[in-house]
Amino acid sequence: MEFITYEQDGFVGVITINRPKALNALNSQVLDELNAALDEVDLETTRALILTGAGDKSFVAGADIGEMSTLTKAEGEAFGKKGNDVFRRLEVFPIPVIAAVNGFALGGGCEISMSCDIRICSENAVFGQPEVGLGITPGFGGTQRLARLVGAGMAKQMIYTARNIKADEAYRIGLVNAVYPQEELMAAAKKMASGIAAQAPIAVRNCKKAINDGLQVDMDKAIVIEEKLFGDCFETEDQKAGMGNFLEKDKEKKLKVVPFQNK
Ligand code: CAA
Repeated sequence: MEFITYEQDGFVGVITINRPKALNALNSQVLDELNAALDEVDLETTRALILTGAGDKSFVAGADIGEMSTLTKAEGEAFGKKGNDVFRRLEVFPIPVIAAVNGFALGGGCEISMSCDIRICSENAVFGQPEVGLGITPGFGGTQRLARLVGAGMAKQMIYTARNIKADEAYRIGLVNAVYPQEELMAAAKKMASGIAAQAPIAVRNCKKAINDGLQVDMDKAIVIEEKLFGDCFETEDQKAGMGNFLEKDKEKKLKVVPFQNK
C-alpha cells in the first residue's frame, strides 16, 4: 500500500494515513487502501485499533479537492458513497477504534474521526467542516455524525459557517474526549487502547454493538438489544474467567491477568 501503514503492537493495531504531500487528504486510492487495511486486521489477535495521520501537522485535511473538482453530479454521489462505505465499516468494525487526531481534521478528516468510537487529539488539532466554502455539503457523514455527537445547534453552526475550531473548543463541545501535547498523543492513545485490550474482548465487542445499535432505535427496542448482547456473554470463557477471578478469595490469584479469549 502506498498511503496506509498498519502495524500491530500486542493486541493493538495502528492504522496510519500517510500522504504527506497532501496533508493526508483522502483520495480514492487512500479510501481503497483504508478498506484493504481493515481487511488485514486479524480479529483473532487484535482488540483495539488506533487511527492516526502521519506527521505532526495534519491528521487528515479532508477529501481530495483536486480529485473532486471535476466530478459530475453522479460521480460526486459515487465518491460520497465510497467514503461513506469505508467510514461506516470503521464505525461498525467489531473492535473499538480510537482516532488520535494529530493536527488538521477538516472535512473528511473530521468525518473519519467521527466514525471512530473515541477521539483524542493534540493541542494543535483543528476540526471543521469547511465544505460550504467549497460549494458542497459535507459528504462523508458530517451532516449526520456531527449533529449526533455535539447536538444539532452546534453542528449546524459549524457546518453553515464553515468555521474551524481548535482543540480546546472541540473538547468543550464534546467532540474530543481529551487533548494532549503532540508528543504525548500516541502514547496516550496506546495506553487507552491497551486498557481496552486488557478487558474481556467479547464483552467489549458486545458493548460497542449494543451502544451503536441501541442508538438507532427507541429505548424499548434498545434495551432488548442490550439484553441479547448481555446474555451472549454468559457461558463464555471470558465470563467464567472474569467472574471467577473476582470470586477467588486468594488475593494473588485475584490479581492475576485474566486469560481472556478473543472469540
Ligand atoms: N485536498 C487536496 N490537497 C490538499 C488538501 C485537500 N483537502 N488539503 C491540503 N492539500 C494539499 C495542498 O494543496 C498543498 O499541496 P501543494 O503543496 O501541492 O500545493 C499541501 O496539501 C499543503 O497544503 P497547504 O499549502 O494549503 O498547507 P497550509 O499549512 O497552508 O494549510 C490547510 C493547511 C489549512 C489544512 C489547507 O491545506 C486547507 O485548507 N486544506 C483544505 C481543507 C478542506 O477544505 N478540507 C475539506 C475538503 S472537502 C471534503 O472533505 C468533502 C467531504 O466531506 C467528503
